Amino acid sequence: MHTPIGVFDSGYGGLTVLKEIEKKLPQYDYLYLGDNARTPYGTRSYETVYRYTLQCVTWMFHRGCPLIIIACNTASAKALRTIQQKDLPQLAPEKRVLGVIRPTAEVIGSFSTSGKVGILATKGTVESQSYVIEISRFFPDITVYQEACPLWVPLVENNEQESPGADYFIEKHINNLFRKDKSIDVALMGCTHYPLLKHKIEKFLPPGVKLISQGEIVADRLDDYLKRHPEIEERCSKQGTLRFFTTDSTDDFDNHAALFYGRSIKSEHCNICDAN
Ligand code: DGL
Repeated sequence: MHTPIGVFDSGYGGLTVLKEIEKKLPQYDYLYLGDNARTPYGTRSYETVYRYTLQCVTWMFHRGCPLIIIACNTASAKALRTIQQKDLPQLAPEKRVLGVIRPTAEVIGSFSTSGKVGILATKGTVESQSYVIEISRFFPDITVYQEACPLWVPLVENNEQESPGADYFIEKHINNLFRKDKSIDVALMGCTHYPLLKHKIEKFLPPGVKLISQGEIVADRLDDYLKRHPEIEERCSKQGTLRFFTTDSTDDFDNHAALFYGRSIKSEHCNICDAN
């Protein structure tokens, strides 16, 4: 039976995570789902993000995934806990859904010497306070500063990441973050779309600040998780295959996804909506 590891995002951003997971763990099969028809999630309510995420997770379970990585900070912040605690026991008690915030929070403090960490993320992730809460569990002495960057995802989704207009919004939010505390020495790209803006973010960061992306962190933690959970690991099929699904146009997905994934992609369409 084909039981790929599922990787989900509201759009293309999760591809930056899948790329690193595939590099680290090439032996597994993967199924990627981008809910491009309903992206962005970052400006939507808890109720809506939860409903959309649950629909996508349910669809991936029906495709056989024994384990799903929600490679979206917004969905991890606003939907994951409810899905894990309320839905999973009824839907698929033998399956697992993991997010990207917890694995990042487990290590982020170790990159800082000043004890001040900055989180750049969507409005939804910032408002959820998930990073503040999770980081305080693992690094109680670290102070976390957050900056919501509501236009960064639309810039990337609309292929405007190289435009001069992007500079304006990137500089503005970086400056806002460092106005909160000049001694922040670690800045996290707390949204899986942001690696596409990396070189522009670096351009406006104060010298010496480390810019952290989540792909490698999530891949390392997944490797560790699979070693600690053989009962899940042995249900993940291992033929090294990849399938990509989008809820929107496959032509758009294929044209745009290579930017995130580093190579060309042939996607398939799937229909996930409130009526399903
Ligand atoms: N990639 C998602 C994240 O990590 C973007 C969210 C959105 O759709 O706004 O938060």
